[in-house]
Amino acid sequence: MAGRINDEDVKSVRDAVPIDTVVSEYLQLRPAGGGNLKGLCPFHDEKSPSFHVSPSKGLYHCFGCQEGGDTLGFVMKIEHLSFSEAVERLAAQAGVTLRYEQGGYSPGRQQGERTRLIEAHKVAARFYAEQLATSPEAEIGRRFLDERSFDQAAAERFGVGYAPAGWDHLVRFLRGRGFTDLELLASGIAQDGKRGPIDRFRGRLIWPIRDITGEVVGFGARKLRDDDTGPKYLNTPETPIYRKSQVLYGIDAAKRDIAKTNRAVVVEGYTDVMACHLAGVTTAIATCGTAFGAEHVKILRRVLMDNSSSHRAGEVVFTFDGDAAGQKAALRAFEDDQKFAARTSIAVSPGGMDPCELRIADGDEAVHKLVESASPLFEFAIRSIVDQHNLDTAEGRSAALEFAAPIVAQIKDQAIQHEYAVRLAGLVGIPDEGFVVRRIGQIARWGRARAQGQGAGGPGAPRGQGERRGNAPAPVAAPPSPVGPPLNLRTPAYLAERELLKIALQFPALVAPVFDAYGEDEFTAAPYAVVRRVIGEAGGVAAADDAFLDRVREAAPDDAVRSLVTELAVEPLTLPRRRQAEVDVHAERCLVQVRVAAVERRMRDLESTARRAEAQSGNTTAAEVRQELWALEQYRTALKERGAEALYA
Ligand code: CTP
Ligand code: MN
Repeated sequence: MAGRINDEDVKSVRDAVPIDTVVSEYLQLRPAGGGNLKGLCPFHDEKSPSFHVSPSKGLYHCFGCQEGGDTLGFVMKIEHLSFSEAVERLAAQAGVTLRYEQGGYSPGRQQGERTRLIEAHKVAARFYAEQLATSPEAEIGRRFLDERSFDQAAAERFGVGYAPAGWDHLVRFLRGRGFTDLELLASGIAQDGKRGPIDRFRGRLIWPIRDITGEVVGFGARKLRDDDTGPKYLNTPETPIYRKSQVLYGIDAAKRDIAKTNRAVVVEGYTDVMACHLAGVTTAIATCGTAFGAEHVKILRRVLMDNSSSHRAGEVVFTFDGDAAGQKAALRAFEDDQKFAARTSIAVSPGGMDPCELRIADGDEAVHKLVESASPLFEFAIRSIVDQHNLDTAEGRSAALEFAAPIVAQIKDQAIQHEYAVRLAGLVGIPDEGFVVRRIGQIARWGRARAQGQGAGGPGAPRGQGERRGNAPAPVAAPPSPVGPPLNLRTPAYLAERELLKIALQFPALVAPVFDAYGEDEFTAAPYAVVRRVIGEAGGVAAADDAFLDRVREAAPDDAVRSLVTELAVEPLTLPRRRQAEVDVHAERCLVQVRVAAVERRMRDLESTARRAEAQSGNTTAAEVRQELWALEQYRTALKERGAEALYA
C-alpha cells in the first residue's frame, strides 16, 4: 500500500487537467449553452444527451441518471479505480509528480517497483508489436493471425506482437533501456538462463495482458512452430503486478460496455476475446490460463454493480465450446456463489466451435447469435439433465425429475426456487406442478437437515450406501448423482413393481419367461427400472441358474444399485407365512398388476395423443391411435378376467 497522497498535489492534479478533456476521451461533447457541454451519458443508456459537463466549475452531472461529480470522481467511476489510483492516473497524464505522506513503512520503494515493472512491460509490448509488424521472422505469426481472420488493424487494436526466436533479444533491448536484470526477472519477461537472464517467450505470438486501467501487466504467448516443445500457450508467471487469479484479458477494453449494458461475456481464450470484440461483442473477456474463479467474480461484480444508475442486476454470459466441460463448469458455479449463479447464463456454441472459429466459419453475426442464445444457468443445468432422459416414458420422466430436482432444491432464494420448480415440471411434462414443488421442498429440507448433522441415516451413519438402507438407491446412469431423500419405494404405488422384482430375483423360474419381455418402462420408479435392466443384462430370468444373483449384482452399474439388488433378493415377500405355498399365485398376480398398470399408463398417453390429433381435423394418426387404444382396452380386460393366462396369449 502506498502512503497517502499529499493534499496539495491532489489539488494540483485536479486543476491541471480540464474535465472536458478527460470526459472527451470517452464520449462526444457538444455545446449546451452557457459555456457548458453535453453528450450521451456513459453511465446509463440514453438516446438524447442529458450528460452535462461544466468546464468552469470542473463538474459533470447527468440529468438522466443523477450521476455527478468532479474530474477525479469521473475517472474513478468510468475506470473503476480507487481514489488514489485515479489521482495517479491523472497525474501521469498531466505530468504532475506526486508526493506521498510516508507511514511507518516505505511505500516509496514499492511504488517504485510497480512503476518500473509496468514501464518494462510497456517497452516490451512495443518491442513485440514492432517485431510483428516488421520482422521477416514474424511472417509465421502474421500468417497465424491471417488464418484466424485477424488483419493488421486487428492486431494493432489488441497490441498483438511477436517474440523473436533467439535467446535474449528482448533482454538485451530492455537492458539498453536501463532495466536491471533483477527487474527483468521480477517482471517475468525474462527467466534465469545458464549465463544470466534469457527471454521467457521465444518464437511465439504475443498477447499483452492489461489490467483494468489498460496497463500491460503480463503476456500470453502462443506456440507457432512444431519444434517448440513447450505448451500451446505460455503465460507470465505470478509477479508483483500479475496475478492470474485476478487478470481478465480484455477487461480494459470491455469494462465500459460491460458497465453500460450490464452484461459481460466470458469466453475461453485470447483469440476468442479478439473475435468477439471485432464482431461487435465488446463486452467479451477471458481468464488467462486458469478457470474463472472467485477473484474474477469480485472484479466483474465491481464493474457490473457499481453502476448505481442501473437497477437491473448485471448478467454474466459464459460461452463454452464443449458440452461436457461447459456443463461441469456451470454446475460448479452453484457451489460457491448463488447470487452470482443467479445472474449467470450459459451459451454453448454449435459444433464445438469457439467464438474465434465461429467468426471464421459463419461471420460476425454468428458470434452475436451465440451470445444471444444463452440461457440462465439454472435453466441450462436443469435442461441438460432433463435432456438425457426419454420423456416419452413414465420411467424417463420420473428419472428426469429425480435427477434435476436436487439442482432446483439447491437454489436458496425461495422465489427463484419455486419458479424453477414450476419450470422443471413443465420441462419434464409432469402436469401436477404441486407434486414437483413438494418433492423439491422435501429434498431441500433434507439437505438442510443433513447440513446440520441430522442426516436421514441418523447420527454417525456412514455416508452413501449405509444411509440408504431400507430405502432406494439413487437412480443411476447420469451425472450428477441426485442428492436428497430417496424416493419412497415402499409406497403402494410402487409395491407391485417391488414385489415383482423380488420374485424375479428370488424365484426366477416362477416368472420366466414372461418377465423377460417386460420393458424397463413398465417400472415407474427409476431405481426399479434400472434393476429391471440389470436383470436383463445378466441374461434374464429364463437363464437363471446358481450364479444368477452374482451375475445381476455384477451387472449393477454402481454400489447403490448393487445394494438395492441385494436388498430385493433377501427381503421376504409380502405373503403371510401361512400362505407361503401360494407363492406361484402371488407371482402371477404381481406380473398382472404391473402389466395392467403399464397398459393403463400407455392408454392415458394414447388418449391424450388421440385428443390432440383429433383437434386437428384431417389428421390421420388419430384413427391409428384409436385403433391401438382399442387393442389395449381388450388386452386390459383379458388381463383382468383371465389373469396371468392372458400374459402367455
Ligand atoms: N491456455 C493456456 N495454456 C495452454 C492452453 C490454453 O493458458 N496450454 C489458455 C489460453 O488463455 C488460451 C485459452 O486457454 O487462449 C484457450 O485455449 P485453446 O482453446 O486451446 O486455444 P484458442 O484460444 O482457441 O487458440 P488457438 O486459435 O490458438 O487454438
Ligand atoms: Mn479455443
